[in-house]
Amino acid sequence: MHIHRYERWWMMFGIAMLIVFLAIIGVEAIVDNMNPPSGLRAIDPTRVAQTPPFDHPGLRNLSPGRYEAYYIAQVFSFNPSSITLPVGSTVTFYVTSPDVVHGFYIARTDVNMMAVPGWVNSDTHTFTRGGTYLLICHEYCGAGHQNMFAKIEVR
Ligand code: CUA
Repeated sequence: MHIHRYERWWMMFGIAMLIVFLAIIGVEAIVDNMNPPSGLRAIDPTRVAQTPPFDHPGLRNLSPGRYEAYYIAQVFSFNPSSITLPVGSTVTFYVTSPDVVHGFYIARTDVNMMAVPGWVNSDTHTFTRGGTYLLICHEYCGAGHQNMFAKIEVR
């Protein structure tokens, strides 16, 4: 079978790009540890308010500069609605929902999760710069969706 020269170049280009893209995915996964979410914890969505640690949502100081923050996302607010952290803090955020799917996005960071009933999602971020960070629901969840936000003060 005869393949035109240009056709062959184009096929080689396509195969080369496939190899480049797979290599990038492989490097990102291994070197930058970018993987699909795993280790999700299950929770009974009808008993979120009674299930530790979500029976006391909010910030926990583990050690100097190291925190955990437990959030309940529900129509149409986050609990806690505001937390305050020192600059340089590393925080692991845990979020769940007792009602419908919400978003959990902290503007100006790479913290971007879904709050899914029945599951606890988590992500860790270090706040190297001070300021007021807006935590917003970026998943349409009902008539008050646009009012669903909270604040993270870093100072
Ligand atoms: Cu919660 Cu949109």
